[in-house]
Amino acid sequence: SPTTLSIHLTINGQTHALDVEPRVTLLDALRERLHLTGTKKGCDQGQCGACTVHVDGERVLACLTLAAQVEGRSITTIEGLADEDGTLHAVQAAFLEQDAFQCGYCTPGQIMSAVACIREGHAGSNDEIREYMAGNLCRCGAYPHIVAAVRQAAQELRS
Ligand code: FES
Repeated sequence: SPTTLSIHLTINGQTHALDVEPRVTLLDALRERLHLTGTKKGCDQGQCGACTVHVDGERVLACLTLAAQVEGRSITTIEGLADEDGTLHAVQAAFLEQDAFQCGYCTPGQIMSAVACIREGHAGSNDEIREYMAGNLCRCGAYPHIVAAVRQAAQELRS
């Protein structure tokens, strides 16, 4: 039988112990082992952005990251973005206000990307937002609304 590794993952401030095979991706660990299904599996090969999460505050594609690689790092998923009292993150609220989704499948990845994009200071103009959000595909073509939401949230977070 394949080797398993005993690892600890810190996700949204909580530490989880799990045994995984070395090749298990962070995406499968989140979805299948920890039942954190807010992080979506689109292409499973690094091309759609649906699986975007933060590792130590930086965005990564969970489908291209091995669970064992991120042991001991601080992982944030869409489930960890709102405040503990349920108050939505400014980016989540802006996506709702701007109607920035249709089917919603790409939305968690879009939001995680947007939070990082704003934090990195790359949300100053619509062009910049489009450039830095280019790794997050939306099959419904909700891009104008997504850009508007990121713009709104960036302005709110700045003031
Ligand atoms: Fe990871 Fe598409 S599922 S980039």
